[in-house]
Amino acid sequence: MTPRENFGSRFAVVMAMAGSAVGLGNIWRFPYMVGEHGGAAFIILYALASFILVLPIFFAETIIGRRSRQGTFGAMEKLAPGSRWKWLGLLTVFAPIIILSYYSVVGGWSVEYLFKAVCLDFTNTPPEQVQGFFGAFISSTGGPIAVHTIFMLLVAGIVLAGVKKGIEGFTKVTMPVLFVLIVALAIYSVTLPGASEGVAYLVKPDFSKVDARAVAAAMGQAFFSLSLGVGTILTYASYMRKEENILASGIGTAVSDLLFAIIAGFAVMPAVFAAGIAPGAGPGLVFDTLPYIFNRMGADVPWLSAVIAIIFFVTILVAALTSAISMMEVGVAYLTEEKGMRRPTAVLIITVFAWAVGVLCSLSFGPLAEVKLLGNSIFDFLDKLCSNWLLPAGGLLFTLFVGWKMSRPDVYAEFTNDGTLKANVRIFDVIWFLIRYVAPVGIVVVFLTNLIL
Ligand code: PHE
Repeated sequence: MTPRENFGSRFAVVMAMAGSAVGLGNIWRFPYMVGEHGGAAFIILYALASFILVLPIFFAETIIGRRSRQGTFGAMEKLAPGSRWKWLGLLTVFAPIIILSYYSVVGGWSVEYLFKAVCLDFTNTPPEQVQGFFGAFISSTGGPIAVHTIFMLLVAGIVLAGVKKGIEGFTKVTMPVLFVLIVALAIYSVTLPGASEGVAYLVKPDFSKVDARAVAAAMGQAFFSLSLGVGTILTYASYMRKEENILASGIGTAVSDLLFAIIAGFAVMPAVFAAGIAPGAGPGLVFDTLPYIFNRMGADVPWLSAVIAIIFFVTILVAALTSAISMMEVGVAYLTEEKGMRRPTAVLIITVFAWAVGVLCSLSFGPLAEVKLLGNSIFDFLDKLCSNWLLPAGGLLFTLFVGWKMSRPDVYAEFTNDGTLKANVRIFDVIWFLIRYVAPVGIVVVFLTNLIL
């Protein structure tokens, strides 16, 4: 067997984990969630949820991953041999592959929109037509499948190159660039005429919109955005060297993710307000509304509008790629470690499976729109199944595993590097309490709220 690969430095670990965390969840989902749940008030809820509830789950996953130095399934077998916990390992092998399948469909849309931006389609088309782009495109058959295929092949190519050359190499270069791009977009957006209303919306909290639904949505968003509950962070942590610091990596990742989401909000919302569109425009916000904004801008300065559009969709595409590779790696780690497969074979199997499920998701916006699973289209069904149920369930079980199945001395040793990291030692009791009590209770509350609503 080839020796297990490792990430080369703390910077590499944080970039890979932040790459997994920063994705469509930040640029596509977060802005419309903010729009639907009261602007700045939602951002505050989201920040609280990220740090109090979700960060302990992040620590739980990293502790399991690094202690066992195995993918999700192997980790359970190693830390709790012969127990039923292996089912958790198996669940968290499948969940990210399912997410990958529909995530790749949206990733494909960003490939398509990048083509459109490069071909100046947003600027050279009458406004009514630009507004019809999104609906017409996603409900067609061949085009969306073609770009879904391109996206999936890009993911497969990076994962095929391995943990160090592929995942580390790609995220270390692209993540810093992504930050620069999103900041540039935000600066541009807040300086548009009429943008100030959008800025006010993001900084003035309206607490009257804070209800149980908003709280549950903030927690769900924090889960999804930090890639938790499906073994991706666990798997990446299994590639962390022993001398790395779990606390610092976790905070680095969570802060990057939160900052990126907020800056993305400033890139999208002020532009939306400047164009006079309602902020809560739903999932279509980025793909439906922005092209229209690029079109209106293009009427004044066509080249600038084209450049901004290209930067925007490059940002979305790369952010989606750095997340999708983390989903694929979970399954690849399982097949190579547990089934003894070679990396290329494992990548091929997962790519074909996720691609095929993705094709069904893509068709569910068009020819298969009538196929309903519990009243949802295939795409919506899988998204809800994962975001509302599998992620929180996985997160709950991971925290219970660390808090109640592993021994306190083991968890302490892993979190503090055998007592050598002073800050980690000092904060350990708080983290232990959050992992054992606060996080599990919080997740159960989210479950119940989702069930009742
Ligand atoms: N965190 C990613 C995003 O924000 C999505 C993701 C979920 C990635 C689960 C991996 C696992 O887009």
